[in-house]
Amino acid sequence: MDKFIIQGGKNLRGTVSISGAKNASLALMPATLLASGKYELANTPDLRDVTTMSKLLQTMGVTIERNNHTLHINTFRVNKFEAPYEHVKKMRASIYALGPLVTRYGKAKVSMPGGCAWGPRPVNLHLEALKKLGANIELDRGYIIARAKRLKAARIVFSTSSVGATGNTLMAAVLAKGTTRIENAAIEPEIANLVEMLAAMGAKIDGIGTTTLEVEGVDALHPANVSTIPDRIEAGTILVAGALCNGKIRAENCNPEHLSALIAKLKDAGMKLNIGSSFIELHAPKEIFPVDVTTAPYPGFPTDMQAQWIALMSIAKGSSTVTDTIYFDRFKHVPELIRLGANIDLNENVAVVKGVKKLIGAKVMSTDLRASAALILAGLRAEGETEVLRVYHLDRGYEAIEKKLQKLGANIKRVSGEEF
Ligand code: EPU
Repeated sequence: MDKFIIQGGKNLRGTVSISGAKNASLALMPATLLASGKYELANTPDLRDVTTMSKLLQTMGVTIERNNHTLHINTFRVNKFEAPYEHVKKMRASIYALGPLVTRYGKAKVSMPGGCAWGPRPVNLHLEALKKLGANIELDRGYIIARAKRLKAARIVFSTSSVGATGNTLMAAVLAKGTTRIENAAIEPEIANLVEMLAAMGAKIDGIGTTTLEVEGVDALHPANVSTIPDRIEAGTILVAGALCNGKIRAENCNPEHLSALIAKLKDAGMKLNIGSSFIELHAPKEIFPVDVTTAPYPGFPTDMQAQWIALMSIAKGSSTVTDTIYFDRFKHVPELIRLGANIDLNENVAVVKGVKKLIGAKVMSTDLRASAALILAGLRAEGETEVLRVYHLDRGYEAIEKKLQKLGANIKRVSGEEF
C-alpha cells in the first residue's frame, strides 16, 4: 500500500495537461461488447479502474492492448458473459457489462455490486429498466442473472437521474426491437461521450443532449473509434489545488464547458479565471471567500467535487455550507480534514465549514477516491508534513496525480511497497 508524504505550503505555478475521463472510459469500454470487431479508444487515462475494466473484459474473451493513451480493443472472441465478483467488488462500474451482454448475447451474469466506501449505492434503476425492455432478471447467490431472446423497446421513466442506469439502458436499447424512450435521462458529459460512440457504431439516438432520449433499435452495430472526453473532475481537482495554494496555474486539454458550475463557484470564491476553448487559467487571490454549494446532476455542481470543495472552504474567510443531494453519506473526508485543523460540523448531508486561518499537517487516511483527493489538497495547503495513507483509492481515478502536482511545484512524494 502506497502513501503520500506532502510538505505543505508551496505556491503552485505552471501548466498541467488533463487526462481522459475515467467515468467516460468506464462506459465506452464495455460498449465495445455491442459489436464484434476492432476499436480504438483514444485519450483513455492510465489508471486503476481502467485496468480493472480491461481485466473484466479480458475474462470475457476481449483482447485489449494499450499504446500510450489509445486502447486497441478486439471483441471478435467474446465467449463468456459473466462479470465475476473479484472484479465487481473492486469497481462498481462493472455493472456496465450487464446491458451490452444481455442485449447482444441474450445472457449476462454480473455480480451484484455491494455498498461502496461511503454507503449504499443501489442498482435498482438498472434492473427495472432492463426488465421493462423484456429481460428476465433473477438474483442468485450474489449474482444478477439476466436473460432475453431479443429485448423489446419500452418507455422508461427514471425516478432519479442516474448516470449508470442511463448508460446501461442506452446500451441495451440500441439493439432492442423498436423505439425506446428514456425520460429523465442523465445528461452528464460522460453519457454524451457514450452516445457519441453508440451513434458512431450505427445506433439511432434522438434527443442527444436532452433528458429525453429516443433510441430506435437496430439489428446490428459495427465497431467505431472514439476519443474519450477530458476528465472534468481531474481538471476541477487541479483547479482547487491552485485555489488552495496561492496558485497561478493553467489546466490544459480540458473542456471548460463541462466545468461551468465549478467555474461559477470558483469565481464567487474570488478566483481570477481566464478561460479558453480547451484551457482554464486560475490566479488565486490572497483571501478566499466562503461559497455555499449544493451538488446536483449535471450541469449542477458535481458530487465528485464535493470533498475537494470542502477542503477549499476550510480555509475560506468565513462560513459556508456544502450539501450533497446525490450521496447523503459521502462525507468520510470530514473527520480526516478535522485532523488537519479544519472546523466542520456535519449534519446529515450538510457540512457547515467555518474557515480557519491555517491547516496543520498530520497523518490522515483516505477512504475513497474523492476523499483522497480532498486530503491531498488540504495537505498541500497545510503547514508542515501531511501523510496521506491508503492512496490506492486515489490511483483508481487519477492518472499520476502526484507527478502533475510536482510539475506545479508541490512537494509531494509517493512512498511505495510498505504496509501502512
Ligand atoms: N441511484 C439509485 N438507484 C440506481 C442507481 C442510482 O437510487 O439504480 C441513485 C444513487 O444512489 C445516487 C443517484 O441515483 O443517489 C445518482 O447515482 P448515479 O447512478 O448517477 O451514479 P453512478 O452511475 O453509480 C456515476 C459516477 C460516480 C458519480 C455519480 C454521480 C461512474 C463510473 N461513476 O456513478 O463517480 O459520483 O455518477 O455523478 O460514472 C467517482 O468518480 O468518484 C464517482 C463515484
